Amino acid sequence: MQIDKNISLKPYNTFGIDVLAGFFASFGTTDELEELFNAFAAKEKLILGGGSNILFTQNFDGLVLKNELKGISLVKEDANHYYVKVAAGENWHGFVMHCLAHNYAGLENLSLIPGNTGASPMQNIGAYGVEIKDVFESLEAWHIAGGKTVLFTNNDCEFGYRESVFKRKFKNQFVILNVTFRLNKKPVFNTSYGAIEQELEKMQVKELSIQAISQAVINIRSSKLPDPKEIGNAGSFFKNPQITNAQFDELKKEYPTIPGYPAESINRQTYTKVAAGWLIEQCGWKGYRLGDAGCHAKQALVLVNYGNAKGNEIYALSEKIIESVQARFGITLEREVNIL
Ligand code: FAD
Ligand code: EPU
Repeated sequence: MQIDKNISLKPYNTFGIDVLAGFFASFGTTDELEELFNAFAAKEKLILGGGSNILFTQNFDGLVLKNELKGISLVKEDANHYYVKVAAGENWHGFVMHCLAHNYAGLENLSLIPGNTGASPMQNIGAYGVEIKDVFESLEAWHIAGGKTVLFTNNDCEFGYRESVFKRKFKNQFVILNVTFRLNKKPVFNTSYGAIEQELEKMQVKELSIQAISQAVINIRSSKLPDPKEIGNAGSFFKNPQITNAQFDELKKEYPTIPGYPAESINRQTYTKVAAGWLIEQCGWKGYRLGDAGCHAKQALVLVNYGNAKGNEIYALSEKIIESVQARFGITLEREVNIL
């Protein structure tokens, strides 16, 4: 196994932040993973997928472990479903394309999300009306302290909006090895997100298909989200805040155009999800740039690195945005991106 020392992580994070990793190695099997954990027992470890949801604010002195577990297999079939198991180091969009090619339905709305399949349960990735929890069957994860592989069902993962046990009570305790999805034989089309219908019309789609929905999602995403190959970013920097319906009604009186969507109820309290991009835009940040750190001109929820920004500069900008949204709307934005 190759172990590199003091290497730049710039090519390994979509923000393009230039920090150093004390040690860097890849693993392609669970045995290699275990060996590396044993050899570097005293060092801090970071499991790295595609680096598309991380902001590095300092050098990482420990061991960065790049996940290279590969393989996709159909493990089971019943009357209505295909059960497809994918290794954690497979690229997410590549996996979605594989499913579309085999007519496994359910992931089409999640096309073009960067990163690896292993990170997808971490924050229950979601887009265009679907979250992975809707099609997630189970996952296997390696328990770092116990050195054993553990099976997690959908319930075990405690999925929520951009949340799971792996971000909360089991943070840094498991390495996700593979994920099994329960995909439909007969597609259930989800075009509830308004922009999809409009895009399908523009594409002049005559017969709806999972392939057409995927293409519509790809077109919409490409039109507003910056491509990390061109401008460094990690997608939405903040979550869309969820406030009580009563709070939302109050804000709506003052700001009649504030966009809000029904969110899940918690303890019988009903919530509205507010578009953070709108709140940030109202505070005047959209298109803002200081040095190489900025707020994207087409999507205010996306913070960007125009070239050589430091992680600290992006973080400082996020602090200023949180303060101004708090001062104007009384809403506290929470970061979605993992800060290191
Ligand atoms: P990384 O950034 O490498 O890791 C993220 C976190 O997960 C880290 O804490 C890491 O240690 C941990 N981790 C990674 N792999 C494992 C593993 N196998 N076991 C244990 N821990 C692990 N997200 C959405 O939900 N919806 C979107 O629409 C969306 N759009 C995006 C658009 C753009 C342009 C970009 C850049 C990002 C977007 N994201 C979106 C965020 C990101 O793509 C997802 O969060 C993705 O799942 C991250 O995958 P990754 O492999 O890059 O994770
Ligand atoms: N808006 C503005 N100004 C902006 C941006 C957005 O006013 O600069 C308003 C618009 O009214 C728009 C609404 O916000 O209609 C929603 O915007 P958009 O459809 O672009 O989605 P979003 O809420 O900003 C969320 C996810 C994205 C996901 C899209 C599509 C979060 C934090 N973000 O963004 O996920 O792709 O919906 O479903 O939930 C990610 O997590 O990294 C990510 C990109």
